[in-house]
Amino acid sequence: MSGVTKRFDGKTVIVTGGGGGIGGATSIRFAQEGARVAVLDLNLEAAEKVAAAIRGNGGVAEAIRCDIADRSSVDAAIAATEAKLGPIDVLVNNAGWDIFRPFVKTEPAQWDKLIAINLTGALHMHHAVLPGMVERRAGRIVNVASDAGRVGSSGEAVYAACKGGLVAFSKTIAREHARQGITVNVVCPGPTDTALFAVFKEGAGNPEKLEEAFRRSIPLGRIGQPDDLPGAILFFASDDARYVTGQVLSVSGGLTMSG
Ligand SMILES: NC(=O)c1ccc[n+]([C@@H]2O[C@H](COP(=O)([O-])OP(=O)(O)OC[C@H]3O[C@@H](n4cnc5c(N)ncnc54)[C@H](O)[C@@H]3O)[C@@H](O)[C@H]2O)c1
Repeated sequence: MSGVTKRFDGKTVIVTGGGGGIGGATSIRFAQEGARVAVLDLNLEAAEKVAAAIRGNGGVAEAIRCDIADRSSVDAAIAATEAKLGPIDVLVNNAGWDIFRPFVKTEPAQWDKLIAINLTGALHMHHAVLPGMVERRAGRIVNVASDAGRVGSSGEAVYAACKGGLVAFSKTIAREHARQGITVNVVCPGPTDTALFAVFKEGAGNPEKLEEAFRRSIPLGRIGQPDDLPGAILFFASDDARYVTGQVLSVSGGLTMSG
């Protein structure tokens, strides 16, 4: 319906890992709700597909290559976003990566990569985007962590440490910037059917058995789908959440019920 105001009309939104499962669904939903979306991803081809789908439906989107682990790549991607789509109103830190094996079987070089993507990557993004938000005295940041960071997850020790770190970091940034009109909140997906989850299942050795075990232990009775996540992410990014900051919400079919 034309002429109807949408929640994110006139807003510029960055979604990191926007070429992936949850990031793609989130980018598409933001665009449906009126936002101009910068789809940032290490995998430019995947980001292009999402941006093309958005444009094909009459939305506004730019695919921009970005390695969040590399500060110069982050700075270039932010500059490109602002040049093409304007100042950033909403930042969704969603890009993530994991390897699945018991901690004692991992190597320090693997920890470095996990930390660079899952923790330092988000720090780079905050450090690059926050000064503009502070200047404009407005901004919404939504960080996609993981229930692994709240309750632990076997085979994901360093990833869980990063996600737990991201939760703690988000709460501190929420405090540091609350008086400047900036909110920071966290969404923790549970097992969600994406490329990352497929690798997780393979890592466990018996994908079908693992999926069945999850299905049995998830109160709502199914594995999450990428489309289950944008509702919570867009809520935190919206005006309805203007009095909400430093909070953590699991979207996991009830698998985890953290206080
Ligand atoms: N799928 C799950 O079960 C699950 C559970 C809990 C948390 N999460 C989190 O949800 C987020 C999205 O994951 P997903 O499941 O959609 O996975 P996905 O693999 O489908 O998407 C992740 C995207 O991040 C991108 N990416 C990886 N490294 C990057 C880097 N250095 N710079 C920029 N982009 C990079 C990938 O190219 C990919 O497009 C991640 O933060 C993940 O940790 C997922």
